[in-house]
Amino acid sequence: MSLSPSPLQLRVVQACTLNPLIRMLRLRADDGSDLPAYAAGAHVRVRVDLPDGVQDWRHYSLVNLVAQPGATDAPTEYLIAVRKEADGRGGSVFMHDSVAEGQLLNVEPPHNDFPLHGGAGRAVLLAGGIGVTPLVSMAAQRRALGLPVRLHYAGRSRDTMAFLPELQALLGEALQVHADAEHGAPLDITAVLDACQPSDQLYVCGPQAMLDAVLSQTRQLGWEAARVHFELFGAPLAEAGDQAFTVELAQSGQCWTVAADQTILECLIAHGCDPLFDCKRGECGVCSTVVIEGEVEHRDYFLSAAEKAQGHVMQICISRAKGARLVLDL
Ligand code: FES
Repeated sequence: MSLSPSPLQLRVVQACTLNPLIRMLRLRADDGSDLPAYAAGAHVRVRVDLPDGVQDWRHYSLVNLVAQPGATDAPTEYLIAVRKEADGRGGSVFMHDSVAEGQLLNVEPPHNDFPLHGGAGRAVLLAGGIGVTPLVSMAAQRRALGLPVRLHYAGRSRDTMAFLPELQALLGEALQVHADAEHGAPLDITAVLDACQPSDQLYVCGPQAMLDAVLSQTRQLGWEAARVHFELFGAPLAEAGDQAFTVELAQSGQCWTVAADQTILECLIAHGCDPLFDCKRGECGVCSTVVIEGEVEHRDYFLSAAEKAQGHVMQICISRAKGARLVLDL
């Protein structure tokens, strides 16, 4: 089963378009009461209606721009920003085109898989596109505490990026904006890493290509894994050549085909199972499942390289079979 605390009913008190791709929503309780506290990096899950009639949940990072201690201890509103994904399953299109000011939304209380850590060095924040949202709150929190921070914010062009004036006011010289359209090339991640000090902690949120590049380069450069914190923005990508395979549940003996464009988790849910999951991006570890037979194509960011090599456990929200069949301890 999913980890689902009781949802809050929050009203959309403001919905405005920041640019053609990004819509910002302010959510409040009708009685004006304080909402549950959160720290930078936290997200809420919002219930969305998909075009196929299914109701699902989408994660949105909470945005705080107020650089004052305690600014998010008893918030009266949650601020989220949603990027419209025309090719997605419809959650972001719902948030853009169907949600109106005055509407009530079901919102799960904040949860934080991407917290700031202490330490002597700077927090170096690296944002790709709408992945900036949790990092905005991190920048504000660091500023509120008088701690050093630097934000590299990359996007295709400035007119598709969010919160630029606010970030400029918050960070000044500590904000580095990279618009691909102005440079004719994506952000030079190597240069960002080269400029880091050994005591710096790196926080990355952006698309999968950016995250994979950062993880691979920091590994090659010998960075300790504990210095690199990340959250993937958006759903993991299907990969060319993905094939259907059979999944067998050893405890019940049930056996199904996982389609080429489906995850094991989606397959189990479609067949009425109630597996544990949370992030659905291979980050949180909640869906870890013991593998009894078969070889795994690991695609998660949770298991260590040694655990992946052993192949005794897998993240069923994202990883697949290498061969034709997997037997799981479910
Ligand atoms: S649900 Fe988070 S790793 Fe699978």
